[in-house]
Amino acid sequence: MRAIVKTGPTAGFEYRTDQEERASLAPGEVRVIVAAASVCGTDRELVNYTPAAEAFGLAFPVTLGHEVSGTVAEVGAAVRNVRVGDRVALESHIACETCYHCRLGQGHNCLNMKLLGLHLDGGFAEQTIVPEQACYVLPDSVPLEVGALFESAGVAVHAMLRSGHLLGGESVLIAGGGPIGLVLVQLAQAFGARQVVVVEPNPYRRTLAEKWGAKTIEPGPDAADWCRQDSADRGGFDVGFDCSGAPGALDTLLHALRREATAVCVGLPNQAYSLDITRHVIKQGLTLKGSFGRSLWATWDRLAALVASGRLDLSALISQRLSLAEFSDAVDLLSGDAAKVLLVPTVHGPFGT
Ligand SMILES: NC(=O)c1ccc[n+]([C@@H]2O[C@H](COP(=O)([O-])OP(=O)(O)OC[C@H]3O[C@@H](n4cnc5c(N)ncnc54)[C@H](O)[C@@H]3O)[C@@H](O)[C@H]2O)c1
Ligand SMILES: [Zn+2]
Ligand SMILES: [Zn+2]
Repeated sequence: MRAIVKTGPTAGFEYRTDQEERASLAPGEVRVIVAAASVCGTDRELVNYTPAAEAFGLAFPVTLGHEVSGTVAEVGAAVRNVRVGDRVALESHIACETCYHCRLGQGHNCLNMKLLGLHLDGGFAEQTIVPEQACYVLPDSVPLEVGALFESAGVAVHAMLRSGHLLGGESVLIAGGGPIGLVLVQLAQAFGARQVVVVEPNPYRRTLAEKWGAKTIEPGPDAADWCRQDSADRGGFDVGFDCSGAPGALDTLLHALRREATAVCVGLPNQAYSLDITRHVIKQGLTLKGSFGRSLWATWDRLAALVASGRLDLSALISQRLSLAEFSDAVDLLSGDAAKVLLVPTVHGPFGT
């Protein structure tokens, strides 16, 4: 079958047309025929093999792709909750189910977490074999290609829940209008925020944020002042999400928050940086939180309900559908005129590849 494989700890990847399909399933495994897999910033880090990618400790060789949907074609022995024919989206964080956090019911904090497409073969392929626990059965009304966006949209839902803010009636500031930031824009609107501002350099993405009612501004030396002015009646924003990981973006965000506001870090910075703790944490009294992955399965159920009810429109985030052979183009598109780029195995690229 065709598959995108990362073979070692250097930049690059292999596009294979002869990747072997494993014939038999181990107990607890599920074979999924991939409908779509979306490409994200993490894939770009993995292709470029940046320090952020190295920090994940990949298990080479590994098929990439961790934002996946598809149809169950076969189930192994002892699989209980998934049936052949089920339409599923895949959770990329596979918890061990035995460590302290897992036993507390907090699988998202698992100490032995394995990630699909990094430690286990993922979904940039025609089919993939995953543990049963990776499968989330989609509501009938949710198209499979929208299911491929659940993993990354779930990051936004989890960040909102982690903030502890209801967002209704609040001033919400988002640094980074990539797919995760854009889902947060929609969530803030769905929950009735009074004001949503997005700091984003890419004009295409600013236009999308504006489409969902956000005000937008480019990053720069004046961005923090502009934001503070924009929410001057409260002395700053109530809650901020850094969905960029860009150097300086969190600093801008912290300067634009009001006293005792909350900042949630979602974007993964490529290197350590310093923050003014005296100013922001002590005097401003901010709560600084990180958010990683999704809670299992509260985030997914909430997300599925929001999508099924039409309050969250993930399909509008799909900007391109490419073949597996066009993975390199998909990665390039991430910093261009794109939101979510899907690799669709049934789409064939140039020369029928
Ligand atoms: N915490 C998690 O669990 C988790 C999961 C997946 C992805 N991520 C990270 O979240 C971030 C967002 O991912 P994404 O999928 O939305 O795509 P993305 O990486 O494309 O989004 C980042 C956005 O930030 C913008 N940006 C660049 N410099 C900026 C600046 N100085 N100020 C404001 N915005 C700036 C970019 O133009 C881009 O639109 C990435 O860093 C990604 O690695 C985190
Ligand atoms: Zn991702
Ligand atoms: Zn665990």
